[in-house]
Amino acid sequence: LVKDQEEMNKKIEDLIATLPVDSEGSVPLYQFKGCWYPSFAIRGNIAADLHFQAQDSDIFLASPPKSGTTWMKALIFSIVNRNRYPPNESPLLTTHPHNLIQYIEFRHYLNGNIPENLDQLLKPRLFATHSHYASLPHSITHSSCRIVYICRNPLDTFVSLYHSPRSSKITQQDMDATYEKYCRGIIHFGPFWDNILGYWQASLEKPEKVLFLKYEDLKEDIVFQMKRLAKFLGFPFSVEEENEGLVEEISSLCSFESLKNLEVNRSDKPTRPGGPPANSFYRKGEVGDFVNHLNPSMVENLVTITQEKFAGSGLVF
Ligand code: A3P
Repeated sequence: LVKDQEEMNKKIEDLIATLPVDSEGSVPLYQFKGCWYPSFAIRGNIAADLHFQAQDSDIFLASPPKSGTTWMKALIFSIVNRNRYPPNESPLLTTHPHNLIQYIEFRHYLNGNIPENLDQLLKPRLFATHSHYASLPHSITHSSCRIVYICRNPLDTFVSLYHSPRSSKITQQDMDATYEKYCRGIIHFGPFWDNILGYWQASLEKPEKVLFLKYEDLKEDIVFQMKRLAKFLGFPFSVEEENEGLVEEISSLCSFESLKNLEVNRSDKPTRPGGPPANSFYRKGEVGDFVNHLNPSMVENLVTITQEKFAGSGLVF
């Protein structure tokens, strides 16, 4: 078995060596099945593709980085576990959302690790991924498990990404270089538009499998979107729960202000070895902050690219 594993690892390293690579960022990114990955996540993606067995009750949260993933992790965890933990006893009060729902490709199967404890996770099992729909591990797309996808307009996503610790310090030069890379799609789990289009198409073809959400819509009407989400997940709010104000209670527990101010989320320690600090996932939490950071020509250019990429898809941001 060890020998088989060694042979497999060798094959994967040989494969990675043949992939298109961009070595200019903080870590090299490799394009695999259309998606730009750091090598540890490619190994994780391949290991999950070979070994992960999805259960029909599993729930996946998929997103491009910096689109509201942390918020959605908090919401999904709270909705499906509300009978285990009332909001005032929620594990969210003491655990970072990223440690309640972990990434398949760079936590569970990090670097090709094969986890043994997935059966011990609470049911429904909750996982996250930044991979494109087309590069998801086989078992996820070929089972009845559900996928919630969240994304955000490209301007705010870029600004959020730019401020995340992955990027270098803020100078106009860095901003221009990062922007140029972003427009070419060479970012973690990019191109941004391909990441979105795959899940958008899947949500149109299989609405019972993929729920497509936008950060801006959640900001506009969180209660409505939470009810939609709960129904999709198979945990609809009852009339009694709605009358008791449970939806509002969960939404306020998971709000930006509430989570940001919890001690566990104010820490500057990483949420996973080598990952960004816990507090870096909470910056401003607003729609439209791009106006404070991008000049009009940057905005216009990104809007034009987005219109071209999404033309004919029915998607509008
Ligand atoms: P900003 O950088 O614009 O503030 P992700 O979780 O995918 O990394 O996305 C991070 C973005 O979501 C950051 O955006 C962060 O502030 C925002 N965010 C984090 N928690 C949030 C919450 N509970 N409500 C709304 N936005 C939140």
